[in-house]
Amino acid sequence: MKEIINRIECLKRQKNAVILAHNYQIPEVQDIADFVGDSFALSKKAKEMTCDIIVFCGVHFMAESAKILSPEKTVLLPARDAGCPMAEMITAEDVAELRKQYPDAAVICYVNSSAEVKAVSDICCTSSNALKVVRSVPNRRIIFIPDENLGNYVAQQVPDKEIILFNGFCTTHKRVKVDEVDAAKRVLPDAKLLIHPECTPEVVKKADFVGSTAQIIDYATNSDDKEFIIGTEQGIMHWLQKNNPGKKFYLLSQKLICPNMKKTTLKEVLNSLENMTYEIKLSQEEISRAYSSLNKMLNVG
Ligand code: 13P
Ligand code: SF4
Repeated sequence: MKEIINRIECLKRQKNAVILAHNYQIPEVQDIADFVGDSFALSKKAKEMTCDIIVFCGVHFMAESAKILSPEKTVLLPARDAGCPMAEMITAEDVAELRKQYPDAAVICYVNSSAEVKAVSDICCTSSNALKVVRSVPNRRIIFIPDENLGNYVAQQVPDKEIILFNGFCTTHKRVKVDEVDAAKRVLPDAKLLIHPECTPEVVKKADFVGSTAQIIDYATNSDDKEFIIGTEQGIMHWLQKNNPGKKFYLLSQKLICPNMKKTTLKEVLNSLENMTYEIKLSQEEISRAYSSLNKMLNVG
């Protein structure tokens, strides 16, 4: 492993590359990354960092967003088939159909979506800023795509808006059942329950705190509490445990593993830097059409 890490470091310097990793990546990948974060922070970093190459350790839509925000950089996705099932649940045609049905509505698009869907949306959001983005648009009626659970979570907090939901979902977070939450709370009555909004409304309702992966990390790190039940993908446990030695973290369910987030290994990262694989390629037209929705989101914060 040491040998692979040394070669990665060397190639990074030679090629002026940076490694960005999502909080769900395997520990070895998080540890060699220049920056680890949630979808929002990673998009911001991709735009701001001065480098020639971004090796994006995450899933396809994240690397694609990095390319849209930073078209002059070469963006590499080390595991070619690391996709997100939720992003594949909606097409640009679905959005056109919804727009026809609700012509006065603004379309807010969760970043877990393809470039072509972003291109036909008004503004993007992530789980960390969805509420802020919804409040930022003047329209009373909003079409929220594709995550029904995140949309529902936001809708509860904006009674003055009418939120039209689409039936997309995260195949990993949706697997968590409310019985598992009740069982975990019985065994660990003093632990705080931290939940990602991609979980179902029944599960979200039981949470002490709901937030993106980075917000869950911040909450646990800054809290005086000592025990936490973590209701999001298992990869987040690495950062939590590494940086909070005095605290205990319990994964809510063993089902909380996203197979696509586990496809990137150190070997793939090395291969990526050696052979410049797999480069995200988008036409100038695709980039300029999707840029506006993503950039508006960054401006909202
Ligand atoms: P965040 O890191 O933005 O919370 O995203 C979670 C997720 O499921 C990404 O695929
Ligand atoms: Fe997609 Fe869910 Fe995996 Fe995130 S955790 S990449 S939303 S399937």
